[in-house]
Amino acid sequence: MGFPSKAPKMLALAGSLVICFLVSVAAAGNFYQNFDITWGDGRGKVLNGGQMLTLSLDRTSGSGFQSRNEYLFGKIDMQLKLVPGNSAGTVTAYYLSSQGPTHDEIDFEFLGNLSGDPYTLHTNVFSQGKGNREQQFKLWFDPTKDFHTYSILWNPQHIIFSVDGTPIRDFRNNEAKGVPFPKNQPMRIYSSLWNADNWATRGGLVKTDWSKAPFVASYSNFNANACVMSMGASSCEAKNGTPAGSSWMTQELDATSQERMRWVQKNYMIYNYCTDANRFPQGFPPECSIA
Ligand SMILES: *[C@@H]1O[C@H](CO)[C@@H](O)[C@H](O)[C@H]1NC(C)=O
Repeated sequence: MGFPSKAPKMLALAGSLVICFLVSVAAAGNFYQNFDITWGDGRGKVLNGGQMLTLSLDRTSGSGFQSRNEYLFGKIDMQLKLVPGNSAGTVTAYYLSSQGPTHDEIDFEFLGNLSGDPYTLHTNVFSQGKGNREQQFKLWFDPTKDFHTYSILWNPQHIIFSVDGTPIRDFRNNEAKGVPFPKNQPMRIYSSLWNADNWATRGGLVKTDWSKAPFVASYSNFNANACVMSMGASSCEAKNGTPAGSSWMTQELDATSQERMRWVQKNYMIYNYCTDANRFPQGFPPECSIA
């Protein structure tokens, strides 16, 4: 086989790599292009020519949006500025999810609190319909004063949750130990702001103060370096099935990042299902025995 017959194949491969690159880059920024406001009857708004999005909640309704694209693996950043002041009873959820009864899901949820009391950042991972993997954190800053970056790195081996570039949780692929890992079902990005005062703040003891409504959460600087699924094909796969060589596809935490994650978990973790013995009288889930 000489050069001429190989050339078209090479060109096709280069072409799909270029498309993947373009898809990743094009996903930066604009909320008009990347998201649809799906509920809330006008309470969700895209502002500043697509640079910002706000959700609001009042006594009648909350609001929410979802990504137009479905992703199968990616490095996804979003900046959020949470409901300021007395946000008790409100929940701002920001998550990835697939569809159906055996869905996969990767969750950030921000549980509001009374003025001056800390928000709780709740995380969870569902694989094939099963969650129950909650870890909760305090934050080391006031998440209502400024925008902060909440990131999910999702590749075939890891789901890494980060806050302003600091990893807080690393859910590893433990399929070898019989733990299903989300890796076959494409997910969309979803976010919503709603009233959950039956459980959100101090277990439901503190109710939403509607005299402070509307409650508003803001979003900016969305960036997805991700594999977009379209009609069953991934933007990251060349026609011959060779994945495009994005470095985040095989990324894991280096020693420094692991150190920082341990620092967060030691000082800011307030709940870990892997240490909640009451909940698992028959023994902890298998992924808990690994770091
Ligand atoms: C709210 O503040 C209280 C008091 O500091 C704290 O115990 C609680 O974990 C915070 N978060 C929620 C969601 O209740």
